[in-house]
Amino acid sequence: MFSELEPHAERLRGTTLRELFDTDPDRAERLSVSTGDLVLDFSKNLLDDDAVGALVAVARDRGLPERIEAMFTGEHINTTEDRAVLHTALRRPADAPLVVDGQDVTAEVQRVLGRMEAFTRSVRSGERTGATGQRFTTVVNIGIGGSDLGPRMVVRALRRCLDGTLDARFVANVDGADLEAALTGLDAAQTLFVVCSKTFTTAETLANAGAARSWLVERLGEDAVGAHFVAVSTNAEQVREFGIDEDQMFGFWDWVGGRYSLTSAVGLSILLAVGPEQFRELLAGFADMDEHFRTAPLERNLPVLLGLVGVWNRNVLGMDSLAVLPYAQDLELLPAYLQQLDMESNGKRVRLDGTPVDTDTGPIVWGQPGTNGQHAFYQLLHQGTTPVPCDMVAFVAPLSGLEEQHDVLLANCLAQTQALAFGRSAEEVAAAGVDAELVPHRTFPGNRPSNTVLVSALTPRTLGQLVAAYEHKVLTQGVLWGVNSFDQWGVELGKTLATALVRRLHGEDGDAPLDSSTERLLRLYREGRPG
Ligand code: F6P
Repeated sequence: MFSELEPHAERLRGTTLRELFDTDPDRAERLSVSTGDLVLDFSKNLLDDDAVGALVAVARDRGLPERIEAMFTGEHINTTEDRAVLHTALRRPADAPLVVDGQDVTAEVQRVLGRMEAFTRSVRSGERTGATGQRFTTVVNIGIGGSDLGPRMVVRALRRCLDGTLDARFVANVDGADLEAALTGLDAAQTLFVVCSKTFTTAETLANAGAARSWLVERLGEDAVGAHFVAVSTNAEQVREFGIDEDQMFGFWDWVGGRYSLTSAVGLSILLAVGPEQFRELLAGFADMDEHFRTAPLERNLPVLLGLVGVWNRNVLGMDSLAVLPYAQDLELLPAYLQQLDMESNGKRVRLDGTPVDTDTGPIVWGQPGTNGQHAFYQLLHQGTTPVPCDMVAFVAPLSGLEEQHDVLLANCLAQTQALAFGRSAEEVAAAGVDAELVPHRTFPGNRPSNTVLVSALTPRTLGQLVAAYEHKVLTQGVLWGVNSFDQWGVELGKTLATALVRRLHGEDGDAPLDSSTERLLRLYREGRPG
């Protein structure tokens, strides 16, 4: 599929990052791109200007510019669900109407945002209270996947913007331990629940919302539910059925994919935690990157380049995973967030027309903050047999009051990229006086690719820019692979099978034979013994 890249792969085979840097002092300058408050340095990847040029040509050939425009203008690029893909409309300027399928989506977005802000202000000011007249002190967001990971990640990342007015907690897992832990120590009279679900049919969320409702009713009575529960959803009917009035619901639309939804009403718990002003800043950051993605030439387009470098590593170098390594404790949830964004979008095996892809698609995305990971899995990154491309995310401004530690943090981040790229040869190890038998053990092969995304400071605006960059990287790669990055049929089968097994556990289903493994495990579970 990428035969255009083969001559470049051939030319670069056998070269090393050391050589590429030694022979080209301006390499880092040229193989970097910046926009807004972000710099992406992709020079520590095993490619050169000509290879980047070839990747850009492939992107053009596969119609990337047209796909970008199609997304921004609301064409139904999610073909398997016949939907527009318009998360960018959620952060569009209020005075820029956009009519899609006969509806001015900008006006709709602003209407809901206005309601979210008014609601947030009334809760935060204490004007809107719980059933007993007490102020809310805690908001519990109940949702899963895209209805959880985005707001959870952002609230964690914006720790420094929290003013203590409202504490935000998040519940996702159908394992009752999650809800139990979230409710520990809470006073029902001061607790607001946001039930967040695009479809309002997700089993985990409905189970947790039902249990939370019972918890509240036990303490404050049935009449309190209206004051303590709001919903975020596209499905007014199901919300009503659950018992939440429509005026307590904040809507969004089928053209917002779950994993792209944090700038929709799904962000309500972000507003409640950090206030509407900070949420506006977050939206502005997303808008900055949207504008750049839509208008910058492909060869200077940060999300496009991030995507193309990923395609090089995945399809030309055959590397099948991507480690996301934020050098910022406050971004500890970024890897989990990007895992859904990337893997649910591009974990696909057929093209838009249903034919099988003829190249690998989305990588396995994983990671955790540096420096913690350095003392856990970086050994494999440096000396294992599976090279793993790494995205380091680092900040210029300290993220804590302990400013002197920030230099150590940044130095560690950059040192890791040096070690990955340049390694340490056997000659260097021997020259340092290491015993001959230990030389192989202490040699680092190097030549392991990494990107560094350097951000000025962790603020709502820069966080918006960063997340939008990854959203658009995912689209870029999906276009090159020819897949639909906006559906997720792959999660359906497991849901259907789980529903059937629950019925079986409740004795509601017939005796149709199961496979022997599942049958036996269910029996052991029923009998209450592990083996
Ligand atoms: O099961 C996958 C999924 O559909 C995700 O795409 C989505 O983010 C998550 O479930 C939650 O869905 P909902 O917001 O409809 O509850």
